[in-house]
Amino acid sequence: MELEDILARRRMVRSYRSDPVPRDTVERIVATVRRAPSGGFSQGHRLVVVTEAATRRELARLAGEDEYVAAGGQAWISTAPVHVFVGTREESYHERYRQPDKLRDGEEIGWPAPYWYVDAGAAFMLLQLAAIDEGLAAGVYGVLPEQVPDVKALLGVPDDVHFVCVVTIGRAASDPQETRLVSRLGQRRLALEELVRWERWDEPVKTADA
Ligand SMILES: Cc1cc2nc3c(=O)[nH]c(=O)nc-3n(C[C@H](O)[C@H](O)[C@H](O)COP(=O)(O)O)c2cc1C
Repeated sequence: MELEDILARRRMVRSYRSDPVPRDTVERIVATVRRAPSGGFSQGHRLVVVTEAATRRELARLAGEDEYVAAGGQAWISTAPVHVFVGTREESYHERYRQPDKLRDGEEIGWPAPYWYVDAGAAFMLLQLAAIDEGLAAGVYGVLPEQVPDVKALLGVPDDVHFVCVVTIGRAASDPQETRLVSRLGQRRLALEELVRWERWDEPVKTADA
């Protein structure tokens, strides 16, 4: 599929058919993590692929699906046949930036942003785009901070891997509740000029005939 077509289809899907995704398809999607960029090629991203129904149900419970369903929502998290836990290992960045080619005056650099989370975002986007390329749909959910230890314990994730989000993958089902659920439909999409400036923040935008 062309990138333009993939981007036109890119949206967070919150309604799935429950039929499983073939293992080799899931393997191709998660293999894209090896193509993800990372600061200093630190490669701190770590994934756990979950397909077992009982574990998906427990993840959904920890994500608050029961309350959501009680309030009239549909059980989209537990229905999604594939969940991919996306984690990041911050220590991989410190290890990498303490190697001789990365030291500045003998010290690890200061970090302008937590690149381990930046890179996890880039990695999860690759998963979503790859899922769309396979004719599937993907979504993302987070959990409240107090649920993170239970999510990690459920999946056996070690202490040094931080929770980032969980990506859901499956075949999209029709979604009668979409208008109710989707932030995108209730908020204005910012204009391009509000998001992108040219040359300097305070530079006036030049139109083509100016
Ligand atoms: C880091 C991150 C966390 C998100 N967490 C949730 C979530 O917990 N539940 C949910 O329904 N959507 C979640 N979303 C999806 C956003 O609501 C969605 O991306 C946004 O409304 C724009 O819609 P679109 O991606 O379909 O264009 C998350 C998105 C991101 C990037």
